[in-house]
Amino acid sequence: MKSVLILIVGALLYLGYDSAMTYTNSNQFCFGCHVGMDTIVEEYQSSVHYHNTKGVVAATCSDCHVQEKRSRKFN
Ligand code: HEC
Ligand code: HEC
Repeated sequence: MKSVLILIVGALLYLGYDSAMTYTNSNQFCFGCHVGMDTIVEEYQSSVHYHNTKGVVAATCSDCHVQEKRSRKFN
């Protein structure tokens, strides 16, 4: 019983960590502070990294600014 509880707590902690790691790589997270703080979001949105002929968002802020998306995020 105790070990089942530990497993459940572990899984919940992992899911929390995982979604925090994912959320902090989203543009929304960076925009939260950088809209209005400087012009970087506007510059990005008028660049090919945001608008391109393929019709997809080619690069997000974290693609360039976060070295590795998961464990190596902290160094
Ligand atoms: C909690 C608010 C906050 C969030 C969220 C945030 N930033 Fe920043 N960021 C700042 C502040 C404040 C500075 C310092 C600005 C200055 O010194 O002019 C900064 C500076 C930077 C710089 C360095 C600018 C320089 O002049 O060297 C980069 C690059 C940067 N942020 C990218 C990002 C990216 C990419 C994300 C998303 C992963 C992000 N930021 C999310 C607040 C934030
Ligand atoms: C295609 C790669 C790429 C993407 C996407 C990208 N950046 Fe950058 N960013 C750079 C590079 C390269 C620099 C220049 C670094 C330098 O000058 O030292 C830079 C510089 C910056 C700076 C410092 C600007 C200054 O005036 O010194 C900030 C702040 C920043 N980026 C935030 C962001 C945010 C927020 C996003 C998403 C909206 C983003 N970047 C998307 C590559 C990128």
